[in-house]
Amino acid sequence: MLAGKRVLLIVTGGIAAFKMPELIRRLRERGAAVRCILTKGGAQFVTPLTLQALSEDKVYSELFSLTDESEMGHIRLSREADLVVVAPATADVLARMAAGIADDLATTTLLATDKQVVVAPAMNVQMWAHAATRANMALLESRGIRRVGPNAGDLACGEVGAGRMAEPMEILGAIEAFFAEAADSSFSDRPLAGLKALVTSGPTYEAIDPVRYIANRSSGKQGHAIAAALARLGAATTLVSGPTRLADPAGVSVVSIESARDMLAACQAALPVDVAVCAAAVADWRVKAAAGAKIKKAGGKPPSLELAENPDILATLSAAGNARPRLVVGFAAETDDVVANAVEKRKRKGCDWIVANDVSPNTGTFGGDRNTVHIVAADGVENWPPLSKDDVAMRLARRIGKHLAALRQ
Ligand code: CTP
Repeated sequence: MLAGKRVLLIVTGGIAAFKMPELIRRLRERGAAVRCILTKGGAQFVTPLTLQALSEDKVYSELFSLTDESEMGHIRLSREADLVVVAPATADVLARMAAGIADDLATTTLLATDKQVVVAPAMNVQMWAHAATRANMALLESRGIRRVGPNAGDLACGEVGAGRMAEPMEILGAIEAFFAEAADSSFSDRPLAGLKALVTSGPTYEAIDPVRYIANRSSGKQGHAIAAALARLGAATTLVSGPTRLADPAGVSVVSIESARDMLAACQAALPVDVAVCAAAVADWRVKAAAGAKIKKAGGKPPSLELAENPDILATLSAAGNARPRLVVGFAAETDDVVANAVEKRKRKGCDWIVANDVSPNTGTFGGDRNTVHIVAADGVENWPPLSKDDVAMRLARRIGKHLAALRQ
């Protein structure tokens, strides 16, 4: 049940933080991906290295770390999780959550998240019993935050009473219960169940020599979001992706490649599928004869690179005869005459729909989080309003579901 689920674990400063390695291990055993935020207080009780080794992921702790913000903004930390767990949750973090304070990475992420939050309080018995903590907890629960524990027993401070963090296996139980309920409630909303989908995403890297390559600035955000949306609606989804900084979407089978030719081979290996969505920014050209060894300056003339055209994956899938997906969707990233170019591109590539978008620098589409698209099909053009890339993905996935259902009738 936890396979492919993504848990963002926020470890705050209580002695029970030393139990988090156990929780991470149990989650990983069950196939869940765990990413940790460790507060300064938490780091007094468990080291980032331990959490990193067990989660097999980077541990985040600084709000204003330049590298963390460029690689993984605090918004994305919570967006790329299916569930946020705060364990141990100190009286302090509960108070700051209740007040909406956002002065470090943990509280900023908690304020920014759109995901379910589960807290596992851990503190001294008097602190747990204090009217302020009771009021904070009641407020958080009234906002939908779930709580597991605390239990009564011996406390680290030497006192006895309620305040002991729930055991890792109990926290695991609360996490499993959340996903079981989510699966039940989404069961009826799986219009793509029983169908297979293929999505390409990201840039491709074309080798010049073993250390250099030609690439482009595609972030992969739109393609990854489409794969996630198709999987969420029930399709068995394969994502063939060039190098990106994005986490693998939950419940999607990801094939990582570098070059256009590898991308084509991976796509062909994924056939047959019901729908293929080519969102990758495939390099149009590769270096005709990539050097086997690093090209040296050697004081002479700069080398000239002869380019060869790459295979067109979208066109190849569209012309795949019996193996052709019933629906093939391409993208057209344009800077001028967006719709007219997309209409022409749809015909030239032989696909069914083109999702056309304006990627002029002033639109902020390339690398950004929003997108304004037009769906170009044989029977006309649909203009969508500006949407987040996640919303474009979900709307497209639903449109795909409707189309395939109509084809089946
Ligand atoms: N595409 C592909 N394989 C390629 C090139 C492009 O699968 N070798 C796909 C992209 O994934 C996208 C669509 O084709 O779905 C359009 O890509 P685009 O770069 O806009 O088109 P080009 O073929 O490069 O056309 P042009 O140079 O005329 O813009």
